[in-house]
Amino acid sequence: MRKKKSNIILTGFMGCGKTSIGKRIALNFEIDFIDTDIEIQNICGMTINSIFEKYGECYFRKLERNYCKLAALSKGYVIASGGGIIKDESNIENLKINGVIVYLKCSAEKIYKNIKNDATRPLLNGADDKYELICSMLEQREPLYHKYADFIMDISDMRLEESAWQVGRELRRLGFI
Ligand code: S3P
Repeated sequence: MRKKKSNIILTGFMGCGKTSIGKRIALNFEIDFIDTDIEIQNICGMTINSIFEKYGECYFRKLERNYCKLAALSKGYVIASGGGIIKDESNIENLKINGVIVYLKCSAEKIYKNIKNDATRPLLNGADDKYELICSMLEQREPLYHKYADFIMDISDMRLEESAWQVGRELRRLGFI
């Protein structure tokens, strides 16, 4: 088992594969894995959809902020973050205290393919044209993902296994694993 190093924070748009890739990296390198959305759901005892429905996005963002403050106190985890974590700079400041930020860059086409039939993302549910919405949200958020990333991996043309392997290899090369 490795010594406790920085957290490895995976950022990227909804549906790019943060959770699946994060779990694989964690498994490959025997590191513990956390998903911020799963933690928030466990704390609230509600799904992300229900939190948005019942309390609204602002409340969810508050929970997300609190969770990032907690993450600043931990070390040695692979953390898959919610796609909107970059909307609040203080989240990134907290995550960077003990973590390296990876942006899993992914094309709108691939994201759409991954989540076109998914109903667990409240911000995309009910859109007239999901692909258009993904494109416009990605365009808005892309500069932030770039701005905060310590390194970027374009995984648009990779399968999950390969993405995990490539990201892991780069993290090892940079000395984060
Ligand atoms: C969100 C992404 C979701 C979840 C919430 C909001 C966003 O996480 O945190 O629905 O604003 O992009 P995933 O990126 O894991 O889907």
